[in-house]
Amino acid sequence: MILFKDEFKVFFDDLQLKKISDQCLRTSLNAFNVNNGNIPKWTIALDALKAMPKGKIELNEPYISINQNSLDSEILESAFKKLLPWRKGPFMFNNLKLESEWQGDLKWKRLQKHITPLKNRRVLDVGAGNGYFTLRMAMEGAKKVLGIEPFLLFNYQYAAIKSLISNEINVMLLPIRLEEMPSSATFDSVFSMGVLYHQRSHMEHLLKLKDMMAPGAELILETLVVEGPKGYVLIPEGRYAQMRNVHCLPSIETLKSWLADANFNNIKVVDISKTSPKEQRRTEWIGDNAASLEDFLDPSDPSLTKEGYPAPTRVIIICNN
Ligand SMILES: C[S@@+](CC[C@H](N)C(=O)[O-])C[C@H]1O[C@@H](n2cnc3c(N)ncnc32)[C@H](O)[C@@H]1O
Repeated sequence: MILFKDEFKVFFDDLQLKKISDQCLRTSLNAFNVNNGNIPKWTIALDALKAMPKGKIELNEPYISINQNSLDSEILESAFKKLLPWRKGPFMFNNLKLESEWQGDLKWKRLQKHITPLKNRRVLDVGAGNGYFTLRMAMEGAKKVLGIEPFLLFNYQYAAIKSLISNEINVMLLPIRLEEMPSSATFDSVFSMGVLYHQRSHMEHLLKLKDMMAPGAELILETLVVEGPKGYVLIPEGRYAQMRNVHCLPSIETLKSWLADANFNNIKVVDISKTSPKEQRRTEWIGDNAASLEDFLDPSDPSLTKEGYPAPTRVIIICNN
């Protein structure tokens, strides 16, 4: 099933986006050309949701909410539970609360006051997960918000939410990796949140983000950091806080120097926050026996991960190209 087919043409009917439309389409179609044993189950969930009445998307802090009197909570819950685990959110459908592992509104609150307002801007959300933040960006009045996320389950979760929305909203999520995007100075605001530490080459990631930025655009970069002087980078051996594929945790000064090396300007650190068990928590929406932050930390010293590294701290940096 191609999740985005109906909307693609309408979304890319835009002076700037037209230039990257063909390659985005080809790459996205390719991404669905896989044998994934979960797709039948995800498709059943999506078909059930598509058949339901639609409602207006609104903010009902801390939830993104969709209200429609005749939505049947039992059908909704059963469909959404076929799409576990829900990492990003939270969402609410009438009074059904989908409490995702991450309380995403907390990150949004940390950055919202610092960014250039998104109204009428073209926005790229790299590593968008299920599109929780992509939707928040669109709800700020952006002209177009494109989320890119290679993990197929998260594309299905996004399609599930989107299928319940009645109002026009200029947003789209596609199964594309940043490296696969056609380089094009298209977007006025580019977000890379929680993605840099998963990259084997941090410089390639930063340079590619820059390639996507229109003249005078803004980059919002959020990533894990550790304390240390300029030049210091922690390269975890094996897992970090039980996560595989964590390749680099720079000090803030190191990260700023990487951005300067990539020729970014006006580099501002706007927030440094330790991840708390309020923000990343165990909920029924991440599945049975699932673990979350508290299980990833050393029980005798929560300032350390189970592997003995400093517990997760994230920085938000804003800069221009
Ligand atoms: C930790 S999640 C962050 C999700 C969301 N941006 C947030 O801040 O909560 C990182 C996401 O980035 C995606 N990702 C990893 N490498 C990527 C790449 N090269 N291009 C696009 N997305 C990528 C992963 O599949 C994952 O869903």
